[in-house]
Amino acid sequence: MQNKEIRLANRPKGMPILDNFQFVETSVPQPGDGEVLLRSLYISVDPYLRGRMREGKSYVAPFEVGDVISSALIGEVIESRAPAFQKGDIVTGYFGWRLYNLAKADELRKVDPRIKPVTAALGVLGIPGLTAYFGLLDIGQPKEGETVVVSGAAGAVGTVVCQLAKIKGCRVVGTAGSDEKNRYLREELGVDAAINYKTAGDMRNALQEACPKGIDVYFDNVGGEVSDAVMAVLHHGARIIVCGQISLYNLDKPDIGPRPHPYLLVYSALMKGFIITQYTSRFPEGASQLGQWFAEGKLKYAESIVEGFENTPRAFIGLFTGENLGKQIVKVA
Ligand SMILES: NC(=O)c1ccc[n+]([C@@H]2O[C@H](COP(=O)([O-])OP(=O)(O)OC[C@H]3O[C@@H](n4cnc5c(N)ncnc54)[C@H](OP(=O)(O)O)[C@@H]3O)[C@@H](O)[C@H]2O)c1
Repeated sequence: MQNKEIRLANRPKGMPILDNFQFVETSVPQPGDGEVLLRSLYISVDPYLRGRMREGKSYVAPFEVGDVISSALIGEVIESRAPAFQKGDIVTGYFGWRLYNLAKADELRKVDPRIKPVTAALGVLGIPGLTAYFGLLDIGQPKEGETVVVSGAAGAVGTVVCQLAKIKGCRVVGTAGSDEKNRYLREELGVDAAINYKTAGDMRNALQEACPKGIDVYFDNVGGEVSDAVMAVLHHGARIIVCGQISLYNLDKPDIGPRPHPYLLVYSALMKGFIITQYTSRFPEGASQLGQWFAEGKLKYAESIVEGFENTPRAFIGLFTGENLGKQIVKVA
């Protein structure tokens, strides 16, 4: 058996490119006491990894050049020297972009084999789902009849936010970068209006039309010009959840747009950022509620699967050109 891993070859400048990644063949390690050998089945590629490819301190340590990239993945235990795990167990955790990883028992969580598809553990029932759940419900506090706008609405987090806001009885407006995605949001997820921010022209007008009573809750996945337009359409007492700013992740210098403060002032609005790990102690609550809605068919699941370990960097880069509908996952085996 031959192992392969994907390392950060050099730091991206602007949009990441394939040359930023290096494939290296290595040997398959032997598990020691308390360890298992994992075969990678599915790898999650996520926008925040772009931040880790940048030098400097953030809320997660940056990758050094030469480091193996790591993210959430689902694997199969193929050899176990940890009593809690058996050969054949399907597990999840944070590991290197490798065909085979060594894992300590306490780094692993078993994936319930009854839940289909198993990849839900990386999306609606994983970190993206929990991010949607705590961001929207804890910070946004949406009330029945309110208007919720979700940017990046057709992505892993966004698709769950849209559905949770519908469950809470809100008018939901999504923004996404293609007509196909917006059709999905309207026809499959039941959002009330969906705006293609790439073709809408004047976003402020488009939002005003879609939100005649103003925006009570804005779940922001993208930042930039979409969020600038939202600020002008807020309703009194609005709550703005700053979850992600993907439109800015590839910029080398900060982008100064219209300042939001005057809008926060006149609309008595609250703007709050969060990192999902701050909710770790409440994950069981979120996972249980999401699991229940998923089992009841109230939460639909969208994913885009790219086949083949060698296509992992390509799948990651595709997040920044909007290739994915729902959670972007790489099928390794
Ligand atoms: N705060 C936290 O703890 C936390 C946790 C997880 C994720 N996040 C953040 O949440 C956001 C969504 O993450 P995700 O995993 O669900 O990714 P995702 O939405 O599934 O994938 C990224 C999407 O972003 C959109 N996008 C890319 N470039 C854009 C641009 N310049 N302007 C507007 N949209 C752009 C693309 O869709 P279009 O086709 O619509 O452009 C793309 O499909 C990201 O910003 C991420 O960093 C935050």
